[in-house]
Amino acid sequence: MFQPEQYQLVDFGRGKRLEKFANVLISRDTPAVEKNVKFLTKLSANSPPQLTYLRQAGAGQWQGEMPDPWGIWHRSKFFALKTTPAGQVGLFPEQSINWEWLEQLDLDFSNLKALNLFAYTGGTTMALATRGASVVHVDAAKNVVQWARRNVVQSGLSQANIRWICEDALKFVKREIKRGSKYDIIVADPPSYGKGPKNELWKFHQHFDLLLSSLNQIFSEQAKVLLISCHTADYGEKDLGMQIDRHFRLSAGEVHTNPLDLLDLTGRSLNCGVCLRYLAH
Ligand SMILES: C[S@@+](CC[C@H](N)C(=O)[O-])C[C@H]1O[C@@H](n2cnc3c(N)ncnc32)[C@H](O)[C@@H]1O
Repeated sequence: MFQPEQYQLVDFGRGKRLEKFANVLISRDTPAVEKNVKFLTKLSANSPPQLTYLRQAGAGQWQGEMPDPWGIWHRSKFFALKTTPAGQVGLFPEQSINWEWLEQLDLDFSNLKALNLFAYTGGTTMALATRGASVVHVDAAKNVVQWARRNVVQSGLSQANIRWICEDALKFVKREIKRGSKYDIIVADPPSYGKGPKNELWKFHQHFDLLLSSLNQIFSEQAKVLLISCHTADYGEKDLGMQIDRHFRLSAGEVHTNPLDLLDLTGRSLNCGVCLRYLAH
């Protein structure tokens, strides 16, 4: 959960979501929000958003003036914000429940090696580093890796043990298998569609199986945590649970699947994906 002055999902409906990031009201076309869902709050009717993201035929554009600088805090983690051509602003707020889960685990992270794939602007990397884990942060986009590095510095984590890798996630994991590398913690948040730095195609339905079977090969015997989240339409908790079951032989521990939901001001939940959390005993 974010403090309300940092982030709020105000409302959603008619194919849009209305959010406040540090008091900046933004409206974004969001295909996952059904067109027949109605807006409910007065704010939606009366306050014009400062920024609007409109999507047409797959492409999108922002209207309005972006504050500069602009950023928000989640606990001790700082996120610099800016609008991107894909309609994002630099963090996925629905991931905050996973960061909180990691930050609250009754586990000594100090000698643990963590891999964070599709790591974006570093929310999970910072949650792991705050606990004292050493982290390998992998993302395909160079500018996004630089963004994550700046967030880490602004969050006072410059001394954390983080290796920054700009590479295709699947290629990196295959290389780690050859090197015999092992990880105690694996986190992956694959998108539905993406591209590696050399235009390597990532398609969730085509490559997720291969990713999981590869990850199983670098998951250490004494592995402690597995955290996988997905945001692909028509892919639910049950699908994720079954697919993880097929590829990982998890030792005794707790496994839970959860929806990644955001609550708006009226208490309605907007589903933004699913996740699976495993903690070894
Ligand atoms: C859904 S976001 C991840 C969100 C992030 N885990 C968070 O908590 O904020 C997807 C990220 O995957 C990256 N990506 C897309 N295709 C990739 C690939 N083939 N290899 C590595 N990263 C990729 C994108 O650059 C983007 O940063």
